[in-house]
Amino acid sequence: MTHASAMRRARRRDRRVYLGSHPFLFALLAATRRRPATRIGRTVIAHSRAAFVDGLLRVPLDRTAEGTTGGAAGRLTGGGLLFDQEGDDHRASRRDLADALSAEGVARLRPIWTGLLTDRLAPLAAGHPIDLVDIAADLSGTTTAAMLGLAVDGRDLATAARAAAAAGARDHLPGLPHPGARKAAEAAAANLNNLLTGGDAMAAMLAVAAINTTVAALPRAAAWCADANLWPYAETAVESLVTELLRATTPTPLLPRVAAGSGTVAGCPVTAGDRLVLVARHAVDAHSTDPNPADPAPPHVAQLVFGAGPHACPGARMARAQMADTLAALAPYRPTVVSARADRRSALPGWSSLILAPAR
Ligand code: HEM
Repeated sequence: MTHASAMRRARRRDRRVYLGSHPFLFALLAATRRRPATRIGRTVIAHSRAAFVDGLLRVPLDRTAEGTTGGAAGRLTGGGLLFDQEGDDHRASRRDLADALSAEGVARLRPIWTGLLTDRLAPLAAGHPIDLVDIAADLSGTTTAAMLGLAVDGRDLATAARAAAAAGARDHLPGLPHPGARKAAEAAAANLNNLLTGGDAMAAMLAVAAINTTVAALPRAAAWCADANLWPYAETAVESLVTELLRATTPTPLLPRVAAGSGTVAGCPVTAGDRLVLVARHAVDAHSTDPNPADPAPPHVAQLVFGAGPHACPGARMARAQMADTLAALAPYRPTVVSARADRRSALPGWSSLILAPAR
């Protein structure tokens, strides 16, 4: 198979995570992406890189509005946490997190996931398949539990955090009525909070932010790597491979926000109360430019998959380290995709199972 056709196969498979869970949204985004920003009623869809950055940095945002990441975090936790915070409170919470997620903090936690990868990838050495979604859940749940100093099973934490995010997303999907969705979302959030000994709200928010992104990101990246035969880069240029796979998959493809005041998004005026759909996937050219670890996107573009400005993802360093270690641990087996099932319920586009087997 040529490089070009392997890359097409990888892209075709990855599209299934969108078509499986959000077909209408995917079609709408594709249809409107030729303009930098498109207004539909009170919603402004920001497609271009400039529009995406304007939406995050140059429009005052309502961090507690329904249907935004901050609003969802607030409902889950009772409010007042990072995503929905501003100013001094936000800066104080970020400082607390900065240590856990600093270079030293990540180095301290790293043996947890490298040890887990050694154990859970062992079947590959014996020629057996593995489910990378299950392993990603274990990896992120176990790391998050350790980061938070919690004596809970990592897999239980991951299950609860994924259920809370999925129920929250269903409760807020625009358009269709979802009978019982609000109750289900509350029950899932309560379950997560119970697991976190007495409902530590910050822990719940962090668990949701870390686990759902990681469970979406690692398997999508590995599937792409397998389909496009990018494994050799995991041995020679893993940092660039991670940069490019994060860019090509953009695990959080849309950032839903609400304007709290006036501004412009790539020249399109917005006013308080307008909904903004910031399309990270288009801002980093994921839809049009295949991953090329030999010529990775420059940092100011690649980093946009983690947002921008004072609310940019504090977990980026850890997310990148986990992906680098996972791809490097898989690479010697040159695994191929046996089967991949799109997750129709998850908050973020992703696989519900991804079965990899060592190349024969
Ligand atoms: C591939 C994995 C990940 C991706 C793609 C990702 C992406 C993002 C994005 C796009 C934002 C919003 C940024 C903005 O509004 O400008 C965000 C916020 C956040 N992320 Fe991540 N993230 C990932 C992993 C993680 C991990 C592993 C953690 C924790 C260990 C984490 C913790 C957070 C927190 C706490 C926030 C809220 C920050 C704030 O509002 O101040 N993320 N992330």
